[in-house]
Amino acid sequence: MSPIRLYMAPMKGFTDHLFRSAFAEHFGGFDLAVAPFIPTKQGYRIKKKYVKDLLPENNTRMQVIPQILSKTAGDFIVLANYLYDLGYNTVNWNLGCPYPMVANKQRGSGMLPHTDLIQAFLDRVLPELHGTLSIKMRLGWKDNSDIFRLLPLIDTYPLSEIIIHPRTGLQRYEGVVDLDAFEACLAMSHHPVVYNGDIRTVDDFKRLSQRFDGVYAWMIGRWCIADPFLPGRITTSGNEAPDKILRMQQFHEALFTAYSQVFKGPSHVMDKMKGLWRYFSLAFKDCKKSVKKITKTRQPDKYLERVNMFFETEAQLRKSINQ
Ligand SMILES: Cc1cc2nc3c(=O)[nH]c(=O)nc-3n(C[C@H](O)[C@H](O)[C@H](O)COP(=O)(O)O)c2cc1C
Repeated sequence: MSPIRLYMAPMKGFTDHLFRSAFAEHFGGFDLAVAPFIPTKQGYRIKKKYVKDLLPENNTRMQVIPQILSKTAGDFIVLANYLYDLGYNTVNWNLGCPYPMVANKQRGSGMLPHTDLIQAFLDRVLPELHGTLSIKMRLGWKDNSDIFRLLPLIDTYPLSEIIIHPRTGLQRYEGVVDLDAFEACLAMSHHPVVYNGDIRTVDDFKRLSQRFDGVYAWMIGRWCIADPFLPGRITTSGNEAPDKILRMQQFHEALFTAYSQVFKGPSHVMDKMKGLWRYFSLAFKDCKKSVKKITKTRQPDKYLERVNMFFETEAQLRKSINQ
């Protein structure tokens, strides 16, 4: 059996380089991460703030594939070549973003119905790139018909892999993933295919990997924040870590410290951390009230006090259940 290849999904606002580094140090389990998208700037300009996340010195702990969101070939070429010149072999093109302000401008998943635009983009871009290109896409904007029209075209281009999240843009992150459509896509494509969507548990992974043995790699997003031990359990077939809560607490502390060093002002740090609690909280039962208390706090000292109290109470609870 070939080894399992596992990728961290890009999540704008969550999986930045500080998160990726802390994750690699505290949990591991991923082979690489696709970074959250960078939008291109008009007029072939590169915005330094956007590329900071991808500077090699910020990415020593985990292998990374940068991702670009763009519909403009010329701007894409300039930014992608800048990234290859930083040392990246592959750049990923985002054809999946579902948010209306992106999709309504025919970018992200909003470009999927426009086969002609995608063809013109790839014709123009691919001969100019200094490295390889991969694509992350959904099934379509409104329905699956987009991907079935696109795959025969995409097959004719030299891509390193395609990552498929089997939902439509209109579904955003809700509703069921369409596994029958994914199966048909897998059969149609000659490129290495990466599966992404709703791998929440080891059992989910087992079910999917048994059904889709042609999948080249697997990608996990939200569920690696909710259960950061999941990637490691999948790749090593290991059991649940006994010191789970303590390690999550240490991860939280490391992230808090890292963000405190780069953000101006504690309120930015806390906003960032509070965003993460939306997913962290999924790992714990009946925690709505105490998480609400954490996310309502305005002072950093109080925030940390409540977070530590939360983890300690959870650790005690687990101890008493296991006794
Ligand atoms: C808050 C958030 C931000 C995201 N940002 C990106 C992004 O920058 N680029 C991208 O290709 N996908 C992005 N995604 C989609 C994820 O990469 C992934 O496809 C999706 O969450 C489904 O996988 P999951 O069920 O494992 O979470 C984002 C998703 C969420 C929820």
